[in-house]
Amino acid sequence: MSKTIIISNRLPLQISLENDDLKVSPSVGGLATGLKSFHRDGDSIWIGWTGLTEEEIPEHLKEDVKEKAKEEACISVNLNQEELDGFYYGFSNRTIWPLFHYFMEFTEADKEHWETYKRVNQKYADIILEHYEDGDHIWVHDYQLLLVPNMIREQQPDAIIGFFNHIPFPSYEVFRTLPWREEVLKGMLGADLIGFHTYDYERHFLSSVSRILRHQVDFNEVALPDRIVKVDSFPMGIDYNKFESAALNHFENTAEEQSELQRRLDHHLEATPDAKLILSIDRLDYTKGIANRLRAFEYFLDNSPRYIEKIRLVMLAVPSRSNVPQYQRLKREIDELVGRINGKFSTVSWTPIWYFYRSMPFENLIDLYTSCDIALLTPIRDGMNLVAKEYVATRTNHTGVLILSEMAGAAQEMNEALIINPNNFDQIAGAIEQAINMPEEEQMQRMKMLQKRLKRYSVEKWAQDFMKTLRNTKANRDSFKSI
Ligand code: ADP
Ligand code: F6P
Repeated sequence: MSKTIIISNRLPLQISLENDDLKVSPSVGGLATGLKSFHRDGDSIWIGWTGLTEEEIPEHLKEDVKEKAKEEACISVNLNQEELDGFYYGFSNRTIWPLFHYFMEFTEADKEHWETYKRVNQKYADIILEHYEDGDHIWVHDYQLLLVPNMIREQQPDAIIGFFNHIPFPSYEVFRTLPWREEVLKGMLGADLIGFHTYDYERHFLSSVSRILRHQVDFNEVALPDRIVKVDSFPMGIDYNKFESAALNHFENTAEEQSELQRRLDHHLEATPDAKLILSIDRLDYTKGIANRLRAFEYFLDNSPRYIEKIRLVMLAVPSRSNVPQYQRLKREIDELVGRINGKFSTVSWTPIWYFYRSMPFENLIDLYTSCDIALLTPIRDGMNLVAKEYVATRTNHTGVLILSEMAGAAQEMNEALIINPNNFDQIAGAIEQAINMPEEEQMQRMKMLQKRLKRYSVEKWAQDFMKTLRNTKANRDSFKSI
């Protein structure tokens, strides 16, 4: 029986070492959280990295790591420190990530990183080929593995290969600055189907293909000498039922079952019943606009002092890529901004920002989503932003307001949110004011529309659509050959 082979840099499970023992926790990030339910419900294996380097795993635990992965139908790819530095911290996160998010000033072009990136992509491709059987569907994910589709194609010309890019694809004018632009495009074109979150990313990719490689592009198909590659947009959804039912269960918790965090949130609400909580959740990443958000919040308090003691920003940032200098600098900048704003506005009974720098268990995310009246998500660029969708899915009483940057892929499907430009502080401050004062009836109207759409296009539907299109693309390829 044929299976689906999912490949991403990171597995949905993260393994760490605690007192010479292995600890398994879920990975954070849109790709892992989104795709997990497709993997759980289907007949698939998932190939990726566990989060530990080869050097970090003690000899006597090496087999256990494999076993832990296997328990969740995963196959672990071993990466050593040198590979991780060049491939992950290097080319993936110091070249592709900033370039594809339009942070050209952060983009490095290091030949050694590129060489390691190629080598590690080949390592992933080889592991896929070890597990591949005729008829399997191969689904490669994201910018860390851009070369993998063609590496598989070279060994298995008939394989059915899909590729999905979870981050933006930049405009031709930006992409063309990459020294290895031809190799990257050729790598991706090894797939039969290439998916993006939005139509704009799809268009940018096709434009680069036609201008750099000079391939003929007809509507959304690229004509290669021996086959057609289809390019399409599939906006990724969330596991809607999971978030909705977690929120419903949450409201049924008895006082003893509540988390400490929920008790603190309730205490805040009891002490200040008219005060509003504003939530932000992201990986700590410069693309997420966290510093801008803090400055805009400060601007709002400066200009609307009547809201002092009446609102609080609950900001959760999860540590991410902390070996990359820009992430270290951003961490310091955020620490300083939070300190300055809290120092400037705090009163004896109130601090404007609660800042958590850590990953939180799922239950606590639900505490936050369900307790906060407003979600403020202001990325400078973001492929999709699943947090926006998760917030909406948990608002089971239909109240709550989402303020969302127009630079997030999610904004294209979430018109009922208050859409802002993350660089326009007046607009953000205006949206915060509008959200605080929005009548409940209007909140419910907007929320219900958002929920209806998200429920319909869940992550299951997204994955099914992608796989169905992939199967059709393969069928078309076969008929193309027989002409
Ligand atoms: P990205 O993929 O860039 O990280 P997304 O918003 O698409 O951004 O996805 C982030 C995912 O990570 C969401 O599913 C969210 O629930 C999860 N997440 C974000 N912050 C935390 C945190 N502090 N603790 C646990 N999970 C988190
Ligand atoms: O969604 C974008 C993405 O980079 C995923 O590829 C990745 O899993 C996630 O964000 C988290 O990043 P990282 O794997 O570098 O911690």
